[in-house]
Amino acid sequence: MATAVGAAAPAPSGAPAAAVVALANQKGGVGKTTTAVNAAVGLARRGYRVLLVDMDPQGNATSSLGVEKAALLHTVYDVLVDEVPIARAVAVTDRPNLDLVASTPTLAGAEIELVEAPRRERRLAHALAAVADRYHVVLIDCPPSLGLLTVNALTAARSVVVPIQCEFLALEGVGQLITTIDLVKRRLNPPLDVAGVLMTMFDARTRLSAHVVEEVRRYFPQRIFRAVVPRSVRLAEAPSYGQGILEYDPASRGATAYEAFVDELVDRLKLAAVGHRPSTADPGWGTTGIAPASDGARAPVAAGSGGARSR
Ligand SMILES: Nc1ncnc2c1ncn2[C@@H]1O[C@H](COP(=O)(O)OP(=O)(O)O)[C@@H](O)[C@H]1O
Ligand SMILES: [Mg+2]
Repeated sequence: MATAVGAAAPAPSGAPAAAVVALANQKGGVGKTTTAVNAAVGLARRGYRVLLVDMDPQGNATSSLGVEKAALLHTVYDVLVDEVPIARAVAVTDRPNLDLVASTPTLAGAEIELVEAPRRERRLAHALAAVADRYHVVLIDCPPSLGLLTVNALTAARSVVVPIQCEFLALEGVGQLITTIDLVKRRLNPPLDVAGVLMTMFDARTRLSAHVVEEVRRYFPQRIFRAVVPRSVRLAEAPSYGQGILEYDPASRGATAYEAFVDELVDRLKLAAVGHRPSTADPGWGTTGIAPASDGARAPVAAGSGGARSR
């Protein structure tokens, strides 16, 4: 398992060097955030230490985890623009193993503020290098554009997961995304690779959904994940409760699909097995998070604190 954050010091023996994965597609509403959040929750429940980085100024990943933006001292904006050490922007969520670097609308200004900045494409990669040995996986939720924020994510990542919605014109723009990935790979981050394409919002009642999956399978013969995420109201509801689908409705079809996706992701990222896999009834989940203090920096978050706090 390698990290693509080039400047990362070698991880101390025994400590993981995070597998950094970007969820990217410049189309909005295709399931990037839903996939980032549910993969993060799913991996954390399996015992992997996970950092979710919200790179979208809309901050949907941040609110989907129930994190109160007003309570945050630092966000990804400070990390990118003012080079605040990322450890100071890491918020512990009220879940074991799952940390967040949040985003707020101010991030929208970063693209412009960084125009003249040195190493502007490498800001996130550089920042993540400092914490890569604290996590098994870093997931980066990209905004719906191919601007500097997404380029930062692709430069920091080792792998890209591309969620594609099972709708008409699903592949529109995917060529441009692949061109951007190739460009970043050539110029900035040679190890970058597409881990796979995840089909989302599949509607078994329509011929269109099945047709789109076939079309995408032809376009990416090897890369498509076997797991297909169904269109499900439960998946759309979960964020408003600040929960992942495994917390909100673990028996739902959406939860089953994201569990299958996480299984495949673990395989494709070649993550070593860790810890135990808590049952969905595990009382430790979604209440208080007593973090495994591998570096002494993590602390338990008080129950009912609104989801997270900065440290
Ligand atoms: N499989 C699904 N079934 C139903 N609704 C979904 C599904 N996946 C995502 N959604 C909803 O669709 C909207 C867009 O999804 P989101 O993950 O935010 O996309 P993106 O991050 O690519 O813009 C959100 O309101 C989300 O709750
Ligand atoms: Mg999103």
